[in-house]
Amino acid sequence: MILITGGTGYIGSHTAVELINAGKQIVIVDDLSNSSEDVIDRIDKITGVKPKFYKGSILDKQLLERIFTENNIDSVIHFAGYKAVGESVEKPLMYYSNNLIGTIELLEAMKKHGCKRIVFSSSATVYGIDNAPPLTEDMKTSAINPYGWTKVMIEQILRDVYVSDNEFSVVLLRYFNPVGAHPSGLIGENPKDIPNNLMPYIAKVAIGELDHINVFGNDYDTPDGTGVRDYIHVVDLAIGHVKALDKAENSFGVLTYNLGTGNGFSVLELIDSYSKACGKELKRVITPRRSGDLASCYADPSKAEKELNWKASRTIDDMCRDSWNFIQTSNQ
Ligand code: NAD
Ligand code: UD1
Repeated sequence: MILITGGTGYIGSHTAVELINAGKQIVIVDDLSNSSEDVIDRIDKITGVKPKFYKGSILDKQLLERIFTENNIDSVIHFAGYKAVGESVEKPLMYYSNNLIGTIELLEAMKKHGCKRIVFSSSATVYGIDNAPPLTEDMKTSAINPYGWTKVMIEQILRDVYVSDNEFSVVLLRYFNPVGAHPSGLIGENPKDIPNNLMPYIAKVAIGELDHINVFGNDYDTPDGTGVRDYIHVVDLAIGHVKALDKAENSFGVLTYNLGTGNGFSVLELIDSYSKACGKELKRVITPRRSGDLASCYADPSKAEKELNWKASRTIDDMCRDSWNFIQTSNQ
């Protein structure tokens, strides 16, 4: 049995679907701080299997004790945490508390119940600002905001746990820019507030909720002057977790993988692809750079391809089409 923390969230729900499709048994815990319970029914609609769900926080020791006692959990995929960069700068203690203490409580419960396999949601943000792309897993990690530091610190906590107990199997997955949605249109990313990230923002402009896209700077050292990122379809990312878990089942130690496509697309290229998907020209306005942004960030994904037998296959047009389909479906 696999425990998915944060399993009603954006990436967790897509991973739940792919794990069920691969014939795995899953149980989900989520406090619904950034998702809703109807995702459980949607997973059921897509897969025909309704996962067992515990509503609550991984900070709650008693809840974790109940989950590990009631289910024979041999692996954990750990998504639960807060993820908004700007908010983490304003409320660092909230971020350190939820992300770090949540992970520590989870690891305590795992150790107590003899569960020693964990796949963790890390981020390309751990490459900081001093490494040049394509980014490889052996580069030095650092961060420039509290959210990023929680990822750097949790990676270190997991390495230390392995040093203390060599029967642990840890996989650190560093996601690049997950976008898109399940092709069914039933699950995806639809932030209630004004989105911070580019793709959900474009989606809200396409559906008419926002007037125009702010392009944060067109004077970067990139082909068209706008920021370049490695966008990855969330279904490809979800499949990467199934492969990572297979790997963890057959190894001990700490393994680190980039999950990206290896291709960079600019802000303007993404807007153009989305315009094609929704069949209308999307209004854009060039604004000053956003502080803390890099010119260019993309993965070298060859390690995951070689060791996990995983490669992203979905294109930027697939990502925009599936996002548009989801936004239309969820606004009906
Ligand atoms: P999300 O917010 O959609 O999902 C996270 C889920 O965790 C939410 O459903 C939330 O309700 C839940 N949660 C938060 N704190 C919890 C707690 N203490 N106990 C139980 N549940 C809790 O985010 P996502 O985009 O699916 O991201 C999942 C993970 O991947 C996060 O750890 C995030 O930092 C990481 N990540 C995301 C991206 C991205 O661009 N989306 C990029 C890199 C890494
Ligand atoms: C951001 C976070 C990063 C996090 C990632 C995934 C920052 C500084 N970084 O990465 O830590 O891991 O999200 O959650 O917040 N852009 C616009 N207009 C917008 C929004 C974005 O032009 O309205 C541009 C950005 O300048 C960037 C690109 O679009 O060049 C992608 O931005 P975004 O989607 O926020 O992702 P990242 O900045 O890569």
